[in-house]
Amino acid sequence: MNNIIQRFKTRTLGLIALAITICFTAIACSGGSATQAEGGISPEVAVDYVHTVLLADRTAYTKHVVSRFKTLEGKDNPKGVISAEATEGWEETGGIPLPAQMFRLGSEVAAETAEEKGIGFTYNLISTWNINDSHAPKSEFEKTAIEEVNNTGEPYKGYQEIGGQKFFSAVYPDKAVAESCASCHNTHPVHLERYPDKVFKLDDVMGGIIINLPIESS
Ligand code: HEC
Repeated sequence: MNNIIQRFKTRTLGLIALAITICFTAIACSGGSATQAEGGISPEVAVDYVHTVLLADRTAYTKHVVSRFKTLEGKDNPKGVISAEATEGWEETGGIPLPAQMFRLGSEVAAETAEEKGIGFTYNLISTWNINDSHAPKSEFEKTAIEEVNNTGEPYKGYQEIGGQKFFSAVYPDKAVAESCASCHNTHPVHLERYPDKVFKLDDVMGGIIINLPIESS
């Protein structure tokens, strides 16, 4: 009798152990496949993360560094506390770079680092009304994207191929969030020469931030 109970217990325990094993395997497997299906960040979301960081740095630099200088591109900055200037010719005048220049300097460092790491990721400013030629829309994707962003004020995302490499690219609007964005561009000699009819107003789309994530072709 004892023997039978013993065998029953062993078998039950064996069954329970088996059930637990199956359960664990099922959970582990479903977890595993879920990780593959959902855990990998989609390029649509990855560009949003990158854009959030870029915009945060650009805004923080403008708000907490540039605005503390007494002169901003030749004009008095009443809120400034540091006797120096944020100006396009900062290297010659001993001042500090404008926000757009700071952004470009950062993007150059990032491009170099990305190349060293072999991840080929880039970002840049682009605009239909660019002061700096390196911000002109170049590829077909960039031309279409910036037109859409100018018209809608919304981000534009899609795939493009450059030199045989496939990219997921996104252009986010860069808007005149302050009066000084518009006034500095409107009165800039290059702007006046190239786009005399384009007068930016507060909240206008002035250009875009483009992010290019390389995608492995399958
Ligand atoms: C004091 C002058 C000044 C102010 C203020 C200013 N910009 Fe610019 N911006 C420039 C100059 C100069 C460039 C070109 C810099 C370069 O890359 O050499 C530029 C570049 C840009 C570009 C890239 C396209 C281009 O023209 O080359 C965008 C987009 C842009 N600025 C948007 C803005 C926005 C938005 C603001 C406000 C948050 C702003 N700018 C404030 C002077 C200014």
